[in-house]
Amino acid sequence: MKKRIAISLSISLLLISACSSSNYEILSFFFDGVPDPNEQRIETQEVVIDSTGIKSRTEILRKATPEFVFHGPFVAKLCDECHNTEQGFKILKEEPALCYECHDNFEESATVLHGPVVAGYCTECHHPHKSENEFLLLKTGQDLCYKCHEKTSISRNEEHPDIEDENCITCHDPHGNNEEYFLL
Ligand code: HEC
Ligand code: HEC
Ligand code: HEC
Ligand code: HEC
Ligand code: HEC
Repeated sequence: MKKRIAISLSISLLLISACSSSNYEILSFFFDGVPDPNEQRIETQEVVIDSTGIKSRTEILRKATPEFVFHGPFVAKLCDECHNTEQGFKILKEEPALCYECHDNFEESATVLHGPVVAGYCTECHHPHKSENEFLLLKTGQDLCYKCHEKTSISRNEEHPDIEDENCITCHDPHGNNEEYFLL
């Protein structure tokens, strides 16, 4: 493991400085199966470190070729569960009622609800058909919350001293629960 990270680090230096001392290492990192001229096995598959930090290989590959997560009824072509397919695909019901046809109603399980959940803005956070992100999310991490909340005002809060890039949902439930500020 130590060795692997050490090798990755040296590759990171190569990537950052675009230095050309070893094309093989770079190639073997990006493409599986590039023959090793020195017959020396270099394992660099798990961890990649580039100028922006540590990223898993899967994450990088996923960026290159996004894989979509599909909504169950969309992929099953149950368009008419949500659309009036006879009349210009009009939406059958407003959110959140549309979503609660199939999903548990958050208002039944939580006493403190997040504004957009009550107001029926589910699709401000979730795509109704497909997304590159898990849970059909439109954005990931803090970006999702900063769609509506102002970064400066969040940073000012003394409860958020050094959250850095910690995901907001490690402390807050995105929908609501029974705690003030839907803290987990
Ligand atoms: C779970 C409910 C749901 C299902 C199932 C669903 N849709 Fe949608 N669809 C929506 C919502 C919500 C919108 C956004 C409508 C809006 O904001 O005006 C939408 C928007 C659309 C739009 C407008 C353009 C766009 O992409 O925003 C089209 C076209 C569409 N859907 C086609 C389809 C087709 C075709 C299917 C079946 C393969 C389907 N939908 C299944 C909920 C659904
Ligand atoms: C016709 C039924 C139906 C309707 C209406 C519906 N959903 Fe779903 N939804 C499903 C099914 C089925 C799944 C897949 C469940 C599973 O795999 O656990 C799902 C999964 C999801 C997931 C989780 C996806 C994941 O990757 O785990 C989200 C988020 C979601 N729906 C949001 C919504 C939202 C938002 C609406 C309203 C715009 C909505 N759904 C309306 C049936 C529906
Ligand atoms: C502020 C953004 C936001 C809004 C608004 C929102 N969600 Fe979510 N939702 C999330 C996030 C983030 C997750 C992933 C939770 C996790 O990682 O544990 C999620 C997960 C889900 C899931 C799958 C996991 C679960 O909790 O069952 C469903 C279903 C879902 N949301 C439905 C809805 C519906 C229905 C609405 C509207 C009534 C809605 N969401 C509104 C952010 C949101
Ligand atoms: C679609 C817009 C939208 C998104 C996205 C959004 N919020 Fe909100 N949020 C609101 C609104 C509107 C309120 C209600 C504001 C109020 O009551 O003053 C709110 C209120 C809150 C509150 C309670 C504040 C209070 O003073 O009671 C918390 C905590 C919160 N959001 C956290 C989050 C987190 C965490 C995320 C990301 C997972 C997020 N929000 C994403 C719109 C949004
Ligand atoms: C380490 C846990 C933690 C993380 C991570 C976190 N919060 Fe909070 N947040 C809290 C606590 C605790 C409170 C309660 C503050 C109080 O009691 O006054 C709070 C309060 C809030 C409030 C209501 C008070 C206000 O300042 O308006 C909002 C909105 C909020 N958080 C949004 C966010 C968003 C957006 C993120 C991500 C960028 C985030 N939080 C990340 C712990 C956290």
